[in-house]
Amino acid sequence: MGKIKSKQKIIINGQKRLSGQVRVAGAKNAALPELAAVLLSKGPFKFQDVPLVEDIKVMFHALENLGASGEFNGNKVHIETPRITSELVPREIVETSRASILILGPLVARNGYARVSKPGGCNIGDRNINYHLQGLRLMGAVIDEEHEHIVARAPRPLKAIEYEFPAQSVTGTENLLMAAALADGTTVLKNCALEPEVGDLIELLQAMGSEIDGKDTTTLTIKGKTSLKGTSHKMIPDRIAMGTYVIAGCLGENQITVENARPEYIRSLLDVLEQIGVNLVIGEDTITVAPNGLSRAVEVVTEPYPGYPTDLQAQLTMLLTQVDGVSRIKETIFNNRFQHAHQLNLMGADIDVDEVEHIATIKGITPLRGTRLMATDLRASAALVLGGLIASGRTVIENAYQLFRGYEDMPGKLKTLGADISVEY
Ligand code: EPU
Repeated sequence: MGKIKSKQKIIINGQKRLSGQVRVAGAKNAALPELAAVLLSKGPFKFQDVPLVEDIKVMFHALENLGASGEFNGNKVHIETPRITSELVPREIVETSRASILILGPLVARNGYARVSKPGGCNIGDRNINYHLQGLRLMGAVIDEEHEHIVARAPRPLKAIEYEFPAQSVTGTENLLMAAALADGTTVLKNCALEPEVGDLIELLQAMGSEIDGKDTTTLTIKGKTSLKGTSHKMIPDRIAMGTYVIAGCLGENQITVENARPEYIRSLLDVLEQIGVNLVIGEDTITVAPNGLSRAVEVVTEPYPGYPTDLQAQLTMLLTQVDGVSRIKETIFNNRFQHAHQLNLMGADIDVDEVEHIATIKGITPLRGTRLMATDLRASAALVLGGLIASGRTVIENAYQLFRGYEDMPGKLKTLGADISVEY
């Protein structure tokens, strides 16, 4: 279970009619590597559309601890690191997030030494970092894994490499991309992740002066530079928040429009919803959900982008409890990512999880009733919120910190749509 960070609870009185518009914030999983990338240069940097979520505050704090100075102004961040003043990313700061592993590459590339806490983040199964370490070692880093920390020493500059990821890794691709940006020579990375957040990081690095070829393909070629400059950058919208609000729109009878959307980022979700029978109106940067019945059960498999995202698996599991028939979801990315199923069953859902094959079988339609639930991880907590919106009576979700790690003001946004939702501290 995710670490209990606070006593925050979310309280929902369900079955209110939701309608209206909701705007998606910038992508957490773009903002995390992009803030880490500021360590590659003295800066200064100006970022727009930075999501105000707990994981990003953790990253900002970790950067300040390394010598960066900056400020948040709404969703804008100004930040610069004229000098690295510490090489330590301590556990107390980063224990709840993936910040430390994303800092490792850029910090060792610029500083030649890094001592970072082993990464935390959602407890959703094995989250190996062997590709990150393998790549950095090939670049010349000597890495020791101590009890709590990863300690890396490296020549400056790092050496360019040719490396093929054994399997696609989002933060693995991002880490080696950042390290390669300051390496001596031309690095070729193969079997890279294709997630839009990787593409956004490439755009940032290019604006910093990096020469990178192959954006949106699995082979990236990075010509290392001796120095990189500060720049301005606007983060792409959060496709997982986008998908979560689209799914929220499928649960009621009225229209919900998701704004600041990039429909192409969640094509795999929109295809599944169309199969289920949801009526979608897709604009250039809006998605309107006009539900007309959830009529057909589906079979879905999570996959790396552009396949169906693991980060929208919990929310879809919740939706499928309201779809007539037997649906199945196979989770292929993480090996412990069905904790929400047990919580949804407490609400009256009928979900059977095969823990060996990582398949959830969901029998719908089951009415849900409000009860006391535990948010086990970020996306599970979003699924429980969605459940609470349609449940009869009162739902109390403990350990709400999990939700705030990655969704900017979800209670406020749902309230604007008409939900009866509040946060108790
Ligand atoms: N893997 C390895 N070795 C590695 C790296 C990955 O075996 O060195 C394996 C993992 O164990 C996993 C698979 O490869 O089975 C994919 O992991 P990946 O490295 O792609 O995941 P990640 O980079 O740790 C990012 C997101 C996650 C998202 C996954 C998959 C960030 C900060 N995190 O994690 O986001 O689920 O990609 O798309 O970008 C979330 O936002 O809720 C979240 C968990």
